[in-house]
Amino acid sequence: MDFATIDKALAGTRFMTTGQAKVMYDFVLRKRLSRVLELGFAHGKSSCYLAAAVEEVDPKNGHVLTIDRTDAERRDPNIWELGRRTGMGDRITPVMAHTSFTWEMMKLIRDDPTPRFDLVYIDGGHTWDTTGFAFHLADRLLVPGGWVVFDDLDWTLGGSASMRDKPWVKRLSPEERDTGQVRLVFRLLAEGGGYEECHEVRTWGFARKPVSPSGSAPGAMRGLVRRTVPVGVRRSVLRAARGARARNGSH
Ligand SMILES: C[S@@+](CC[C@H](N)C(=O)[O-])C[C@H]1O[C@@H](n2cnc3c(N)ncnc32)[C@H](O)[C@@H]1O
Repeated sequence: MDFATIDKALAGTRFMTTGQAKVMYDFVLRKRLSRVLELGFAHGKSSCYLAAAVEEVDPKNGHVLTIDRTDAERRDPNIWELGRRTGMGDRITPVMAHTSFTWEMMKLIRDDPTPRFDLVYIDGGHTWDTTGFAFHLADRLLVPGGWVVFDDLDWTLGGSASMRDKPWVKRLSPEERDTGQVRLVFRLLAEGGGYEECHEVRTWGFARKPVSPSGSAPGAMRGLVRRTVPVGVRRSVLRAARGARARNGSH
């Protein structure tokens, strides 16, 4: 579905703005991404934009699997209603988590460990623990060359009107309260762990899982080697690793 049509159908619903949606929609089309996992859908607005985009990329199979908590069902409108309104319902599979999307991601990995998503869009949680662990799990589910998009790089617990007065937030250290924890995950774990083409657009961080060419070290290890080992040594280490893999008959 073209952008103007989906944008019109979603007017007046909360969360993803037209400007943000246009960036995401164009990104999905430019990179030819068609299998999307979204973490945090709320009303399902971003899910519908993503569904419209994957439909353009792959009209037959383009799909969005999206996870939120069970109480998202009570939102007005909820994701099913928006799916009907936009005609995108068949392209979206909502998963309702009792506690957290990280538990549902465990089930995705347990039921089929094959990496199978081109894009994981993380728009919920926003803490070091939740986003950090979600990124770890997302890495397992992403195909090589797939993308992670982190929303709200600078969101803080202390700056959030809905969070700052909660007793557990008040007990945090000032550093924990006032640091953009999503940015820490983006910079320290994604970029620092060997993800490539890391860049920011608005409040989003984009990071690409390395495509491990045959014979090179896997993504995270390659990033570590690149940062810590001089080039000459690095080449001989990678050569030795290739030799060992060939001897062991692994790919
Ligand atoms: C900002 S809203 C999502 C907005 C939506 N992506 C959009 O742009 O239209 C964040 C959502 O994440 C969900 N969320 C936060 N932490 C979560 C967790 N650990 N597991 C499941 N859902 C979570 C919340 O329930 C909320 O609906």
